[in-house]
Amino acid sequence: MTHAETTSPSASKRTGAALVTAGSAPGSPVGGKVIRVRPSDLYRENLALAYHRGFADHAQVSVPGILELLDPVRIQGGLVLELGCGSGLLTRELIADGHRVIATDASAAMLKLARDYAPGAVEIRQLTLPDDPIPKVDAIVSVGHMISYLPDEAAAYRALASISRALRPGGIFAIDVVDIEYGVARSRGSAVGRIGPDWGCIIEYATPEPNRFARRITTFIANQDGSYLRDDEQHSHILLDASSVPAMLAAEGVEAEVLPAFGIERLPPGLRVLVGRRTKS
Ligand SMILES: C[S@@+](CC[C@H](N)C(=O)[O-])C[C@H]1O[C@@H](n2cnc3c(N)ncnc32)[C@H](O)[C@@H]1O
Repeated sequence: MTHAETTSPSASKRTGAALVTAGSAPGSPVGGKVIRVRPSDLYRENLALAYHRGFADHAQVSVPGILELLDPVRIQGGLVLELGCGSGLLTRELIADGHRVIATDASAAMLKLARDYAPGAVEIRQLTLPDDPIPKVDAIVSVGHMISYLPDEAAAYRALASISRALRPGGIFAIDVVDIEYGVARSRGSAVGRIGPDWGCIIEYATPEPNRFARRITTFIANQDGSYLRDDEQHSHILLDASSVPAMLAAEGVEAEVLPAFGIERLPPGLRVLVGRRTKS
């Protein structure tokens, strides 16, 4: 949830979420060690719900740019694969625009929400990067810097190579990644909280290494009796030098560039968008 800072004045109104700064987090429990969590253990039910209810802003601001990039694919009736689809926030917009979409994610709780929120997808199913096979498609999209959840740079590059090989000739991909610059911005160590009528979420940040940031995410979801169910997740993220990715992708037959956004939206400092096209079969 880099998305605390995504620029969209109307987003809070739409999601009913209020942003509050909970103060700096020196000595926070996230500080220091690198945590390893299986991808399928991320975004359990509490966090999946809190994310869907309160962190839709990043997907929402990215939609117009993504739809524009994908327009040629839509006109040709191509097949779009979404990675890290979460609760289906982007999936629903792709379907509404007339795309045929396979939406995928590692989290069972997120996929359950996506099946409700984004009916009409060709398929909604579990796909965990970097090693699950990706079907051949005409476009691959992802928002929410899914690549950063991978354990290290080698896994991130393996995932990017797999994405490149899954594209049919002429196929395109557009995904956001977090650059090293993001860690610099986060090293100031602020924590953020968001709250809605029936949920709350507090995120503490740490930057244990220059190419990593970690988050402890505490969520509260209201039960029917007015009590709240609490859950805590720890996420560790790898930061990439985005400028070095196009050269790596060229070796996979993909021409790629690093952009500041999918379209004209303003993304948080350190978030970058990789847009590529498969030029070779
Ligand atoms: C920040 S959320 C973004 C969700 C959605 N794209 C959105 O913007 O609303 C990141 C998503 O990546 C998924 N994810 C994390 N690691 C993954 C992996 N290794 N393979 C597939 N999905 C993964 C998470 O389950 C989560 O749904």
